[in-house]
Amino acid sequence: MLSRIHHVGVVVPDLDAGLRFWRDTLGLHFTKSATIQEQGVRAALLKIGESEIELLEPINAESGVAKFLARRGGGLHHVCFQTDDVERELEAARARGIQLIDQKPRHGLAGMICFLHPKATRGVLVEYAQPAD
Ligand code: CO
Repeated sequence: MLSRIHHVGVVVPDLDAGLRFWRDTLGLHFTKSATIQEQGVRAALLKIGESEIELLEPINAESGVAKFLARRGGGLHHVCFQTDDVERELEAARARGIQLIDQKPRHGLAGMICFLHPKATRGVLVEYAQPAD
């Protein structure tokens, strides 16, 4: 079951500059950051109430995030819904005929994650996440 908006993904050209704004200027609480090689990004999570903002900086030119940055100059990238069972949620999406980016869940900064295809969601990139804790 999808339970809440876990985070909103924001693409930035420079993660440190992004943190200076979102953490230092806006005052959001820094949770963690990591480099996720498979996705070609450096990412950071910042907590605001029950939800988070996920900053994404591309580390190569090939990733979807890099292409998004080149095309749009960064900004709002995706919405992530929390689930207690990402495998089951992905199966349910597949069964409903929703086009997928990920055929099976993979590791992300927010836990085990998967993405639905923006073509199937009227242009909004949707992520499902099952947090590790
Ligand atoms: Co995300």
